[in-house]
Amino acid sequence: MSILVELQSRFRAALAGLVDDPSEFLKLVQPAADAQFGDYQANLAMPLGKRLGKPPREMAQQVLQRLDVADLCKQPESAGPGFINLQLRDDWLGNHLQTLLGDGRLGAASATVARRFVIDYSAPNIAKPMHVGHVRSTVIGAALDRTLRFLGHRVISDNHIGDWGMQFGMILYGYKHLRNEAAYEQNPVAELSRLYRLVNLLVGYHEDMAALPELKSRLERQEQVVAEMVAQPPPTEKAALKQAAKALGRAEDQIDQLRKLLSSTHERIARIEGDPGVEHLARAHPDIRSAVLAETAKLHAGDAENRRIWRNVLPACRDEIDRIYRRLQVTFDYTLGESFYEDKLAGVVEDLERRGIARPSNGATCVFIEGHETPFLIRKQDGAFLYATTDLATIQYRMQTWQPDAILYVVDHRQSLHFEQLFATARQWGYRDVELQHVSFGTVLGDDGRPFKTRSGDTVGLESLLDEAVSRALAVVSASDEKKPGRDAAREDNRGQIAEAVGIGAIKYADLSQNRTSDYIFSYDKMLAMNGNTATYMQYAYARVRSIFAKGNVDLAAIRQDAVPISLAHSAERSLAVAIAQFPEALGLVVADYRPNHLTSYLFELANRYSTFFENCPVLKAETHALRASRLKLCDLTARVLKLGLELLGIRVVEKM
Ligand code: ARG
Repeated sequence: MSILVELQSRFRAALAGLVDDPSEFLKLVQPAADAQFGDYQANLAMPLGKRLGKPPREMAQQVLQRLDVADLCKQPESAGPGFINLQLRDDWLGNHLQTLLGDGRLGAASATVARRFVIDYSAPNIAKPMHVGHVRSTVIGAALDRTLRFLGHRVISDNHIGDWGMQFGMILYGYKHLRNEAAYEQNPVAELSRLYRLVNLLVGYHEDMAALPELKSRLERQEQVVAEMVAQPPPTEKAALKQAAKALGRAEDQIDQLRKLLSSTHERIARIEGDPGVEHLARAHPDIRSAVLAETAKLHAGDAENRRIWRNVLPACRDEIDRIYRRLQVTFDYTLGESFYEDKLAGVVEDLERRGIARPSNGATCVFIEGHETPFLIRKQDGAFLYATTDLATIQYRMQTWQPDAILYVVDHRQSLHFEQLFATARQWGYRDVELQHVSFGTVLGDDGRPFKTRSGDTVGLESLLDEAVSRALAVVSASDEKKPGRDAAREDNRGQIAEAVGIGAIKYADLSQNRTSDYIFSYDKMLAMNGNTATYMQYAYARVRSIFAKGNVDLAAIRQDAVPISLAHSAERSLAVAIAQFPEALGLVVADYRPNHLTSYLFELANRYSTFFENCPVLKAETHALRASRLKLCDLTARVLKLGLELLGIRVVEKM
């Protein structure tokens, strides 16, 4: 059970008859921010008093008279201007923990109303190397997937891979004109990835070259504008003077921006021209951009050769991403990529046109959405369908096939506009009862505060990222070993596996512990810190508890069944017990707004309370046998919550660290 949910339902009963809809007030029943005010607080007397025109203190008294929590809490108190403080009864808490000892779910009941979710996550564009943004989607998506399933919901995970877009046009072009046959034979994916990068580079070069004159003349015009502004005699009136200065500032800012743009364009061009091999290729392929578009169009139109190449390279690309998934221990129920919807796109556009939802505009087809300046483009002038069209077909397919209650898209925040327009269009199309959610997330940044890149300027390839984390984890684990007396040969053999769990866990946890909507700075040192809100700290805490059992030769099955009551006499014991009992609450928060960081914060708090407990309360050397058993029970529950909590986040624990 979730204590919070239980208390809220008690308050609901108490408020019945006082107000029509108590829901908004129930949100004000919360875990206490400060332990000195008890375990839970209800700060609803003030808004309630406002609503009913009564002083808050009187309101609090009235609620208290109607509130029935005697079985759970000590006599509630009202403090200050009507805050209601609740403290759990120790006997109740002790008994509750006793039942948790025999409960594999550690108190987290299955949802009373099971919902059906489709979760769309990971979704890399498979001809390109997967990057750190896709890890974030994969890791957050997988954590939500596991948590929802654990809570008894029906989850269908669907990896909407990009296997059909312009990136394949690049691969096709590269394959036909730039392939190194020997390299391809030896390692097709590496060669394809090289081809993709190369073609992308060449296309970018010609785009930059084409943009240059326009950029230069925009800068000149802007400089002219500023020169004219400066030449004007300054206005005499104070307000006008201020205005003019502001306008000048803005115009100068624009110059700055244009200069920056121009210099980064020049830099990119210089990089190509400074590399004789690439420069030669750039000259030899002047029309590469339109050729790539043409290859993409041919693939889509069913050109036999392009389809054949596409079918041939696809398995290698899929193998590549599957390798990463194996390492991250992520699996999907379905992987229906963009290509799966290819034959449904024309029908989607037709249907939307027939219903008057989409209409022609300058030769293209668009959906115009209230409140949006730019329309949602679903067919281009040249007849090509877009990412948007595919996403509409995908919604239709998912609704017909699985009838979900909700579809979650774990995709980075730069696609917000796309999803707003997609959802608005889907609603008009008739999909009104399904919850459509963009579970968006921020950018992973480097030390310099800019999107995370390697020294060479590439977005970081995922595999090297994992390798690096694992090799650093190995260093951390080995260093901690050396501090221990004696050698443990079995353990040394095991180090590689431990390092894999620690390294991959660190990366996942770093992604999950951030409020997903914020950007965060990627740092190996921080994510592998032994102290702080990291997986390493949590895994270490787990291993520490487990080592107590090993050291004391503890028979856990016997301890769990032992009838000796759990002692909460020491404040550190009690505070740990409350945290253990709050595990279901943390899961409730995660699924309420799809934020796994509620669970990481909870686990961090739990681990900290355990640490205080451990410093203050001897376990194996407890004064009496009964106290020893009681404390071992708290240890057992802590370890199990840590393990299950981390598992739901996709992170493995290790028995020794
Ligand atoms: N392939 C896309 C990208 O890498 C993400 C796709 C997300 N899912 C979706 N249904 N649009 O940016």
